[in-house]
Amino acid sequence: MSVFKIQGGQSLSGSVQVQGAKNSVLPILAATVLSTGVCVLHNCPRLTDVDHTLEILWHLGCKVKREGNTVTVDAAAPLNWDVPDPLMREMRSSVVFLGPILGRMGRAELSYPGGCELGPRPIDLHLSALRSLGAKIEERSGRLLCEGKLAGGDITLSLPSVGATENAMLAAVAAQGVTTITNAAREPEIVDLQNFLLTLGADVRGAGSSVIVIRGGKALHGGEYTLMADRIVAATYLSAVAAAGGEGQVTGIDWQHLSTVTAVLAEAGCRVESGERAITISAPAHLRAVRPIRTAPYPGFPTDAQAVVMAALCKAEGATVFAENIFDSRYRHVDELARMGADIRVEGKVAVVYGVDRLFGARVRATDLRGGAALAVAGLAAEGETVLSGLEHVFRGYSDLSGDLRALGAKIEQTEEIVNES
Ligand code: EPZ
Repeated sequence: MSVFKIQGGQSLSGSVQVQGAKNSVLPILAATVLSTGVCVLHNCPRLTDVDHTLEILWHLGCKVKREGNTVTVDAAAPLNWDVPDPLMREMRSSVVFLGPILGRMGRAELSYPGGCELGPRPIDLHLSALRSLGAKIEERSGRLLCEGKLAGGDITLSLPSVGATENAMLAAVAAQGVTTITNAAREPEIVDLQNFLLTLGADVRGAGSSVIVIRGGKALHGGEYTLMADRIVAATYLSAVAAAGGEGQVTGIDWQHLSTVTAVLAEAGCRVESGERAITISAPAHLRAVRPIRTAPYPGFPTDAQAVVMAALCKAEGATVFAENIFDSRYRHVDELARMGADIRVEGKVAVVYGVDRLFGARVRATDLRGGAALAVAGLAAEGETVLSGLEHVFRGYSDLSGDLRALGAKIEQTEEIVNES
């Protein structure tokens, strides 16, 4: 099996270009189903989640081609409307296909996405949003059977769900008439999705605010679009420099997309400079604890950055309190960090990180995507060798975590380990 071997304990120095955003490319690829032309997407990261999404598009009948970081999707031909169960199980965010398939084909069938490492992942807001546009949705033996000619309407989300906002936007683009989404998620990836839809000739306004208005019912042509950079990957790399000490630069990123993260790293004692499409950080040998970190919908502190920032603060002087308010089970990396000597107490949504003087390399296993990245970050701050397994989680969201960290000066290699079956 593939593992990362990390030699920690020395400071970093380097620069890295940040990959395209996973949480942009997934809904944007789903949106290509609404286009009867050819869509060309640049800065498309090489991720297993993207591979699974391309597999779904291929199954639906789209012609799909990847050349380097450019993906081309041709959805001109009439499409299938079902997503097979195994493909749905690979990735729960495939539920974002529901809106575009229903909008394009008038019917859709896919499995109820299972839970994941972060706990239950309900989709009640997705379903109520689509029902507001006239969808008839039946849930039968784990499958969602949907049909209906969609018409514009008013959708109010009881919480600003990213996926539900995206599903509603995509269904509304196909729905005849005007749709207003209130209490929409405000994440930058929602703005990226709007900008892509505008490229295809859709009429969508307000993304980035809590109210999005879509004038739907027009056929969409093809288009060419370049995806935004991944703000969580950028936060990961800044946390790596903060954890190990030294200096580093991440490029190709809009610093405003992660200002809550850079503010925490600055409070912890780092010098952070945000320039045009780049962020530079210089970190002392020891950080200091910061005021409580509460995860929240954008523009609050991102839940996806919680684990990597926690890893950076394991050796900080003092105690930092985290409150994870978005997901029920997003502290699974804590036990693995404890194997490296971290002192973290978890009570429900709250985790208290008591800074320790030293971390020690150990064999650790990724529990989920960002938990895995956090263990790599901690390995850079630990003395000795850390061996990180469970890389299938990491490959979902990082095109080349080890290569990117090497560009920042880290001693990390991906190797193969023979696993004895006994
Ligand atoms: C998106 O997930 C991201 N995934 C997640 O990134 C991210 O953590 C999350 O948004 C929050 O920012 C993608 O974009 C592919 P939500 P999503 O719907 O859309 C509850 C990563 O690491 N909820 O905003 O699933 C839900 O249980 C991943 O890159 C309902 O109750 O997140 C959660 O507690 C992990 N009913 C909260 O809302 C619903 O119908 C936020 O979920 C939908 C969600």
